[in-house]
Amino acid sequence: MRTWAVVVAAGSGSRFGAPKQFAELDGKPLVQYAIDAALECCEGVVVVIPPEGCPVELSGDVRIRSGGGSRSESVRAGLEAVPEDADIVVLHDAARPLASQSLFRKVVQAVTDGADGATPAVLLSDTVKEIDGDVVVSTLDRERLVAVQTPQAFRHDILRQAHADAAEATDDAALVERIGGKVVVVVGDPRNLKVTRPEDLHVAQLLARYDD
Ligand code: CTP
Ligand code: MG
Repeated sequence: MRTWAVVVAAGSGSRFGAPKQFAELDGKPLVQYAIDAALECCEGVVVVIPPEGCPVELSGDVRIRSGGGSRSESVRAGLEAVPEDADIVVLHDAARPLASQSLFRKVVQAVTDGADGATPAVLLSDTVKEIDGDVVVSTLDRERLVAVQTPQAFRHDILRQAHADAAEATDDAALVERIGGKVVVVVGDPRNLKVTRPEDLHVAQLLARYDD
C-alpha cells in the first residue's frame, strides 16, 4: 500500500494568539514533530503552510503547498500534491506534536484491513452537556461518546470523494462519514493533545518529558 501524509499547518492560531504550529517545544517547531512522525511511516509527506509563508525552516524531503481559509480548504490544497496512485492518505494536525509512531501505524493498519477511514479516539473524563446560551438542555451519555484526534487515515479515493463538493468540517472523518464511508476508531493517546491555547504548550512540554 502506498501511503502519503498531509500535515496541515496553515492555521492562524487565533485561540493561541499566534500560528502555534511554529512555536517551539524543546527547541523544535511543533510542525517539525508532525513532519518527522509522518516521514517515518509514509512514503511521502505534503506540508500545508500559511499563504503568507512559513517563518521556520522545515527539514525533511517534503512537498510544500499553500493553505486556505479553513482547515478543510487546507486539506484540499494538500491533497493536490498527493500522487494519484497513493492508496492511503494520512491527515495530521501540525498542532499535535506528540502523536506517536504507533498511533500512525494503527490508523494506517485499520484502513489496510478494510475500513474507509480510521481515527484515534479517547474516552471522555468530563460529563458532557448540551446548552442553549447558559442554560443546560440535556446531559449526554458519556459512554457513547469519544473525543477524536489526528492522525486520521483514509482510503485515498474515498477521501477525495468526501472533499469533492468543497464541504467543511473540523476533521476529515466527518466528511467521510457524511458520504456513507465506514470510519473506525483505534485506541487514541491521551498525551496526543492538540495545542490550542498557550497553556497547552506548557502541558505538552511536561508530557514530552513523560516516558511511559
Ligand atoms: N489549519 C490549517 N488551515 C486552516 C486552519 C487550520 O491548516 N485554515 C490547521 C492548523 O494549522 C492546525 C490544524 O489545522 O494544525 C487544527 O486546527 P486548529 O487547532 O483549529 O488551528 P487554528 O485554526 O490555527 O487555531 P484557531 O482555531 O484557534 O484559530
Ligand atoms: Mg481552527
